[in-house]
Amino acid sequence: MSPRQFGAPEAVMVRPLLLKPQWMNGLSERLLVSHYENNYGGAVRRLNAIRTRLTALDWARAPVFEINGLKREELIAAGSVILHEVYFDSLGGHGDNPPTGLEEPSDGLAEALERDFGSVVAWRAEFTAMAKALAGGSGWVILAWSERLGRLVNQWASDHAHGLAGATPILALDMYEHSYHLDFGAKAAAYVDQVMANLNWERIGARYRLAVGERTEDDELFLPFGAPAQEEARISAEELKVLLDGDDNRRLVLLDLCLPKDLPRRTDMLAGATMHAPGALPRWVEELPRGRPIAVYCICGFQVSGAAVKELRQRGYDARALVGGITAWHAIGGKTVPLDTSTYEEAP
Ligand SMILES: [Fe+2]
Repeated sequence: MSPRQFGAPEAVMVRPLLLKPQWMNGLSERLLVSHYENNYGGAVRRLNAIRTRLTALDWARAPVFEINGLKREELIAAGSVILHEVYFDSLGGHGDNPPTGLEEPSDGLAEALERDFGSVVAWRAEFTAMAKALAGGSGWVILAWSERLGRLVNQWASDHAHGLAGATPILALDMYEHSYHLDFGAKAAAYVDQVMANLNWERIGARYRLAVGERTEDDELFLPFGAPAQEEARISAEELKVLLDGDDNRRLVLLDLCLPKDLPRRTDMLAGATMHAPGALPRWVEELPRGRPIAVYCICGFQVSGAAVKELRQRGYDARALVGGITAWHAIGGKTVPLDTSTYEEAP
């Protein structure tokens, strides 16, 4: 799964969180998940709704204000989707390890930053000063590769539709208040420093290589850690929604898996799901019906659902893991019901 669109091009599909929101370096899970589900997810939902309107528009008869309005809103929503994906993808640790705050750009990108800004330190000084200058306002600060200028640029963007023409964002820093006020109040400068202590330079470097057209085999960097590698063992939130909406016979078995320590992070679940402890798999697997498709989800679609799906498939079940977990489900506006832990196994 690369940062490019996956699935059919008609609808824009939500991308999963690659960062682990519960153990970031000074950015809270509440802030990151709210930002992802409400602001990023909201932009994805808005973009798809606008596209639906545009598809139905009679271009010969539509009033110009309707054409102008919809096309303007489409551009803003699409820019917001893309920049939020660059932002979230740029944050987080590696595998199971939290961000250290000490990471530096990988070799190729460090050389490019030195070439275009004098040094990585000089690039960072400019980039963070630009972000801090947006305190009290809003917008994006973007590190982008410009083919025409032949260099990396730090670019100011006053809104989601304000990109340097033809340039490709490598790293985007969200300076809208929703990205920091829950944790930092009005202290935007403290937020900027904290974002810089959470950068995942491996993924930022992969975006740079994609932008400059280097052949790259980095797709696994853009797959949530622990998610099944084979596509047929994964299901997107959009595909699951279509299946559930059309599943009159309730053939799909929905499993909600959660580690005991993560139960306090949960408040809701998908309707019809039963909740289990991953460690009790040998017990609950016996009750699973054979010959029915199974969708497994956890909070963000990392190794909890990934490991269970691997195990279930080895045992011959048609199991798939929900990409991005219930967090991605929230982001597409999927309905949920209050958490029911009555089927959850106590520790042996
Ligand atoms: Fe945002």
